[in-house]
Formats: sequence, structure tokens, C-alpha cells
Amino acid sequence: MAQQLNIGLIGYGFMGRTHSNAYRQAPQFFDLEYQPILKACCARNQEKIKAFAANWGYESFETDWKTLVARDDIDAVDICVPNNLHKEIAIAAAEAGKMILCEKPIAMNTAEAEEMCAAVEKAGVKNTVWYNYRRVPAVTLAKQLIDEGKLGRIFHYRANFLQDWTISEDLPQGGEALWRLDVEAAGSGVTGDLLAHCIDTAIWLNGSIKTVSAMTETFIKERQHQLTGKVEKVGIDDACAFLARCANGSLATFESTRYARGHKALYTFEINGEHASIKWDLHDLHRLDWFDHGDESRVRGWRSIHVTDGDHPYMDHWWVPGLQIGYEHSFVHQVADFLEGLAKGEAVSPTFRDALETQKVCDAVLASGKSGQWVEVG
Ligand SMILES: NC(=O)c1ccc[n+]([C@@H]2O[C@H](COP(=O)([O-])OP(=O)(O)OC[C@H]3O[C@@H](n4cnc5c(N)ncnc54)[C@H](O)[C@@H]3O)[C@@H](O)[C@H]2O)c1
Repeated sequence: MAQQLNIGLIGYGFMGRTHSNAYRQAPQFFDLEYQPILKACCARNQEKIKAFAANWGYESFETDWKTLVARDDIDAVDICVPNNLHKEIAIAAAEAGKMILCEKPIAMNTAEAEEMCAAVEKAGVKNTVWYNYRRVPAVTLAKQLIDEGKLGRIFHYRANFLQDWTISEDLPQGGEALWRLDVEAAGSGVTGDLLAHCIDTAIWLNGSIKTVSAMTETFIKERQHQLTGKVEKVGIDDACAFLARCANGSLATFESTRYARGHKALYTFEINGEHASIKWDLHDLHRLDWFDHGDESRVRGWRSIHVTDGDHPYMDHWWVPGLQIGYEHSFVHQVADFLEGLAKGEAVSPTFRDALETQKVCDAVLASGKSGQWVEVG
């Protein structure tokens, strides 16, 4: 019989929902030694968190995260709140001996992330950060192909994450659902919110990033703050593009913006190697595009692999070949991998320390955007 793992989830927004769904689905589709139990959830608004608990089947709810973290019946704390709260909650949870599953970016900046790493390592508690795109089967397949050497030497890594939802200057900053525009809550703009995903995937697939040269822009300089009602200076980067040199000698380019009219969540990457290239697009997430120079020249060309077969990563746990899965499944896979790691006594990446590497790149990018100089990571 599976051992129970009592989850305490903090934050009932977008990520609170994806994680709750993942805890419910993982044991149905994966054979796991641990069974996540939705023990308690937490947010400040009593009515809303009560309704959330009832909807997802949480046994109880709290309105103060400190009470949740202190509860003896909670084994793992899941942090799904804005970035400025990650550090305090994670350190308190580590000190209380809880496992921690923390949303990305791990923290507001590198200094905070270092403190969080030190806390979980001192406490010896299992930890992970929800860089979920690693566990989209097509992205995991890309990792397998690269690790098998099928691309050979890698020359180029190119990633974009494009959105268009902050173009209106009437959009307020700060407050419920708009905390991403408030630098005090988010730490940065597209760099920590969107590029952090691209950087995590890039480090995972292509190895570490050594130096960066960035440009950032804040197109709308002042916005009304939703909480204070005052018109205040906007402190986040609305757009960021950067060049990078990677440890394996490859050159990388990254771009992210919330001002690309027509794009909602266009996360794409392309990798060009000596023997082959791969491309992936979040809008078509179950496909991996593959070009193999080793193919007979008359039929050589880009092929689009429908990543739904039983021998594709994770897919033997789902339906039948040809039937695809979606965004939410990347979170289910992360839960399943975390619980498998727990059963085997192994760390599951990305750990806090892995996420610290991404945070260091984010900080170097922001510093370079400010100074206009190349900046070394770390
Ligand atoms: N992995 C991903 O792809 C992904 C996607 C979106 C967001 N995120 C990350 O997840 C985190 C949350 O983002 P979101 O989109 O779910 O935000 P959201 O605005 O949808 O939800 C935030 C939640 O935090 C709660 N909250 C705020 N302050 C609180 C407090 N003091 N105590 C308890 N609850 C509090 C709010 O009530 C809300 O329920 C952020 O760190 C974000 O960067 C990750």
C-alpha cells in the first residue's frame, strides 16, 4: 500500500490549480510508492480558499501560511504565491523539516536563492522547483536525443517567450492577478517570469551559460498601482533580449516580451548541432521538429515527430499512440518524478540548487541590461 504524503499548498491561483490537479492525477496514471494527500491549502481570503478547498477536495484550509507550515500533519509545502513570498515561506518550511515544492523563479534574486539553498541543504529536506517544461514529453525527448549525441557538437541555441497582454497603458500594476507588473512582488518582469523558463530549459539541454549581453526595456514608464491607486514608476522589464556564450562553446540568443501583439504564450526553442537540429513550440507542445543531416539527401528535410508513442517519454502512462496530452500533464509528470525520487531516496531536478543557477543567469541578464556591458554569470 502506498505511503501517504500530506501536501500543504499555499496560493490558489493559476499554479495552485495546476498543482492540485497534478497531485490528484499522478497516482491514477503512475505506479507510485507515495500517495499525495490534499491535506490543507492556504490563502488570505477565507471565502475563496474555502471554495477552493471544496472544489479540489482539500481536507482543510488555512488563511495564514505560517499556521500551515507549523502543522504537524503536513509533510510537504507547495509554494504557489508571488515571488516575493518564496524565500520566507521556503526557509520557514525547511526549518520545520518539511519537503518543499516551490514555484519558479525560485526567488527575487540570487542572494535570496542562495539563502533558500542553504536552508534546505542544512535541513536535509527534499526540494524541487516547478520548471515544468522539462517534463513536456517532446522537450524530454529533445533531452534524450541530445544526451545520446545525435546532434553532435551544438553550435546554436535560440529561445523566445512572447506574450502581448500588457500593451495597454491603462492596465494597472500590482495587486491581485497583476502582481507580475509590480517589481516589489515579482523581482523583475519578463526576465524572471518568462526567460527563467527558457534559461532553465537551455541549461538542462545545452549546459551552463557563461556570459551574457542583454538589452531590456520598460515601454510604459508609469502605471496606476492597483492597491494604492497612485500613478507610480514601473520597475519591471517589459521586454528583454540577450546574447549568451555557453560553456560548451555554443552561442545562444533569447528574447522575451509582453508586447508581441498576437502572441499569447509563444515559447519556442531551436537547437542547431553538427548532425541535426531540433525545434519545439509550446503552441504545438506534443510535436518535436527534427532535421537529420544523416538522412538520404533526396528525402532529407524537417520532420515533425508526433510525440505520442509508447516509447516516447512519459507517454506509456497515458492513452494509446497517436493521442496527445497537454500543458497540465507536465505538472503531473513533475509530481510523479518527485514521488519516485522520494521512494528511491534521490534528489529530483530541478532542485533549489539547479534553480539557483537559473537565477544567477537572470541576475546577470538584468545587470547587463542596466550597464550595457557583457556580464559573467555568477
Ligand atoms: N511553472 C509555471 O509555468 C508557472 C506559471 C505561472 C506562474 N508561476 C509561478 O507561480 C507563482 C504564483 O503564480 P500564479 O500565476 O499562480 O499567481 P496567481 O496570482 O494566479 O496566484 C497567486 C496566489 O497567491 C496567493 N497569495 C498572495 N499572497 C499570499 C499570502 N501572503 N498568503 C497566502 N497566499 C497568498 C493569492 O491569493 C493567489 O491565490 C509565481 O511564483 C509564478 O512565477 C509558474
